Amino acid sequence: MRATFLTATFLGLVSGGALGAAEPVDYLREVKPLLTARCQACHGALQQKAGLRLDTAKLLREGGNSGPAVVPGKSSASLLIAHLTAAGGKRRMPPADQDEALSEKQVLLLRDWIDQGATGPADEKPEADPKDHWAFRPPVRRAVPKVKDTARVRNPIDAFLGAERDKHGLTPQPPADRSTLLRRVALDLVGLPPTREELAAFVADPSADAYEKAVDRLLASPQYGERWGRHWMDVWRYSDWWGLGVEVRNSQKHIWHWRDWIIESLNADKGYGQMVREMVAADELYPDDLDRLRATGFLARQYFLFNRNTWLEETVEHTSKAFLGLTMNCAKCHDHKFDPISQQDYYRFRAFFEPYQVRTDEMPGETDFEKDGLPRAFDCNLDAPTYRFVRGDERQPLKDRPLAPGLPRLLAFADLDIRPVPLPAEAHAPGLRPFVLEDHLRLAEQKIDEARAALARAKKALADAEKVGPLPPSEPARAAVVAAEKALAAAQAQPAALRARALADRARHQQPAAPDAQNLVRSAALAEKQAGLASAEENLARAEWELLGADAAKKAPAEAKRNSARDAVAAAKKALEAPGEAYTPLRGTLKTLENNLETAASRGKPFPTTSSGRRSALARWMTDPRHPLTARVAVNHVWMRHFGKPLVPTVFDFGRKGTAPTHPELLDWLACELMASGGRESPGGWSLKHLHRLMVTSDAYRMTSSSAGAPTANRTADGENRYYWRMNPVRMEAQVIRDSLLALAGDLDLRMGGPTVPAADETSRRRSLYFFHSHNEYQKFLSTFDDASVLECYRRAESIVPQQALAVSNSRLALSAAARINARLHERLGEVSDAEFVKAAFETVLAATPTADEQKECAAALKELKELLKGQPDALRRARGDLIQALVNHNDFITVR
Ligand code: HEC
Ligand code: HEC
Repeated sequence: MRATFLTATFLGLVSGGALGAAEPVDYLREVKPLLTARCQACHGALQQKAGLRLDTAKLLREGGNSGPAVVPGKSSASLLIAHLTAAGGKRRMPPADQDEALSEKQVLLLRDWIDQGATGPADEKPEADPKDHWAFRPPVRRAVPKVKDTARVRNPIDAFLGAERDKHGLTPQPPADRSTLLRRVALDLVGLPPTREELAAFVADPSADAYEKAVDRLLASPQYGERWGRHWMDVWRYSDWWGLGVEVRNSQKHIWHWRDWIIESLNADKGYGQMVREMVAADELYPDDLDRLRATGFLARQYFLFNRNTWLEETVEHTSKAFLGLTMNCAKCHDHKFDPISQQDYYRFRAFFEPYQVRTDEMPGETDFEKDGLPRAFDCNLDAPTYRFVRGDERQPLKDRPLAPGLPRLLAFADLDIRPVPLPAEAHAPGLRPFVLEDHLRLAEQKIDEARAALARAKKALADAEKVGPLPPSEPARAAVVAAEKALAAAQAQPAALRARALADRARHQQPAAPDAQNLVRSAALAEKQAGLASAEENLARAEWELLGADAAKKAPAEAKRNSARDAVAAAKKALEAPGEAYTPLRGTLKTLENNLETAASRGKPFPTTSSGRRSALARWMTDPRHPLTARVAVNHVWMRHFGKPLVPTVFDFGRKGTAPTHPELLDWLACELMASGGRESPGGWSLKHLHRLMVTSDAYRMTSSSAGAPTANRTADGENRYYWRMNPVRMEAQVIRDSLLALAGDLDLRMGGPTVPAADETSRRRSLYFFHSHNEYQKFLSTFDDASVLECYRRAESIVPQQALAVSNSRLALSAAARINARLHERLGEVSDAEFVKAAFETVLAATPTADEQKECAAALKELKELLKGQPDALRRARGDLIQALVNHNDFITVR
């Protein structure tokens, strides 16, 4: 106690005497973090403005172009202080157009530190050059390494893995038995177990390429797109809409069109690069291709009603995490603390998305946006500025410095080529699409038919009423006929008005302008006003009819209604006298509210005839073969889902705070291979099916997941299986569990695509990915097994909780599946011994042959069960049903071995 006091006093005396009253400054704790946060982006490893680095005390003393930045002991003579306290402009550091000045307290701190000698630790290391970070350098296809045991090399994957195993003295496990392997690869590629017949045929197939044939068959199956579609939906944050009541606040209605595009694109092996381009910019790259426009559901899903900043923050965050493995979101409030992304870069990245909005286009065959429509992105506000927010605070935009789209310097390997994209007329005026007029005409004709039928009914009612007596009961009936006649006339006026409007639309948008455009516009205005009068007259006739039937209480309001209907007819007549040139174009689309304050007027204004070209430039950059991240990130996602764990554990962070790959050369080789491989639809490369085939036909993939019989060296040196000396068993995902149960029960409904199945629909037998799935509404059984979170799901959790056991043992789904499996087995097998039944049951449910022990246990259990059920009808069958039930609850059922 006393010693501390004395020391403190002594130090105080010393510093008080020599250096003024300052406390000793702790460089590492106080100075360095300040310089790192406020200066390093421009004066560090990445950039050295004025030749100056500030990342070590030594570098500070060495200084930049103008000599030492600090003079130890003399803050007043130090360039650093001069720059910090300069009046403003360019000289003031940080530059006034970039950031705020340091506070007086911070400057004082730096002064004190300089006056106290400007020292740092002797062993202080300069910041590593971010350019040297593995993930920021383009992947290189290195020579495939040589390995000791070439018999275990089926393709380069095995060579890369084998070389590492050799280094660590690990011996690969033998291949899995054939049934386990077929079950594994089937669940992996299509998400459904093989049938017993498929298993038997595969096990008996003597050909050398039996397995490769099975893989090809699975990859060619349409169920592949559903299985892997669900994986990518995790990564790309697929979500159905949610909000409050009928108000859409997040995502969009009918977003399932995007889901169908994902499935179809995968099945067609469109190429990952092409898929990314379409998701980010199909509206600029293929503006009149409705099929590809579905891809921009990726952007429509980001929709958020209440805050455009939140909406764009999520867009930036998840575009960069999903495709680039970058945590761009960390640079919203300050320069990224680990990666070469400045706060400015963050907002420049946001600027790519600034103009975009969402709308729902009509789809062929449906005019009601509640029933169907295509939610899609488009550039709407071309001059929307992007501002940097001070410390990420949206209340503090730096409005005098709007930012153009741009890339983090380190990743800007090529010039951004942003060119405005002129849009075809049908893209910015979708009412011109021929099916829009056709669909509206069809609807109008239907209305005419309905009106005609209604008139016939009204006439019959009148005739019946007149039979009773001429007056007064027939009076309302007569008014009803008049109303029905007017309704028919109003309906009949619609097709002509629709046609005239469509003709005028076409003429207006024609390039060069159609000579008769003005006439057509006038005709449209006239036809629309004629139709308007007809419907006003219909309303009046209805109001008069209502008035006739109104009792004393309703008389006054009915009269008021009739009077205003009369006024409306007068107004419509007047409008018809001078129809003018104003008419309503066929829109064929409904713009989603930009925010909760948007007015009908701005919502109805015409769309821009060009798109900014920003997102297509971004998409080209992301999928440029020189891009160091895109292919690696994709490969890692695919690898993780085949092998049970990723090569880079931080799947959405390949930056310097992320974890380095266990097998960097393999990752690079696969990334290069992915980009170079041609898909069927993608001569440009990026074939995912090629990547799947490489992975699942490797020797590593075919190994047993059991460590039984492995040398102890394997378990001691690499108990975690970091080096893939065996396969990793994985728990089935929620969707696979449900789909497998239904498939084994023979109940799975394999219809593909289309609107979502309501989450509460327990009778549906469709594949699980078709269920409605949003933040607020999801299917219960699936949610028990770590279903994807729609907010963020780059990697599924694999929890083990008691509810799961209950779901498999008690849910209606599991119980009925077990019963159906039992029934089907009885149908197929006929009269068989218990032993034969047990064998068939194991093969069906677990794709495994029972061991002698298992046979014995099952025989004993069946015997016991039969005793219990003795004398009851169907005792044998029920006992066997219980056995099936037990197998469905077996850990091996929900595990992919
Ligand atoms: C956004 C980039 C940026 C940031 C952030 C920044 N600087 Fe600078 N710095 C510059 C530029 C550009 C120059 C050259 C200015 C000139 O010559 O007009 C410079 C020059 C300097 C110089 C003069 C060096 C010489 O030898 O001429 C010093 C000292 C300096 N900065 C210190 C700092 C300090 C301290 C911070 C943090 C508080 C900081 N800078 C933050 C861009 C930046
Ligand atoms: C909403 C604003 C905001 C976001 C987004 C944000 N930060 Fe920060 N962060 C701050 C503030 C404020 C500080 C304290 C002041 C400072 O150092 O700039 C800070 C400080 C830090 C520090 C300590 C800095 C030091 O020098 O000791 C680290 C490290 C950090 N943030 C990392 C991150 C990472 C990683 C992310 C992304 C996952 C992130 N931040 C996202 C606001 C934010």
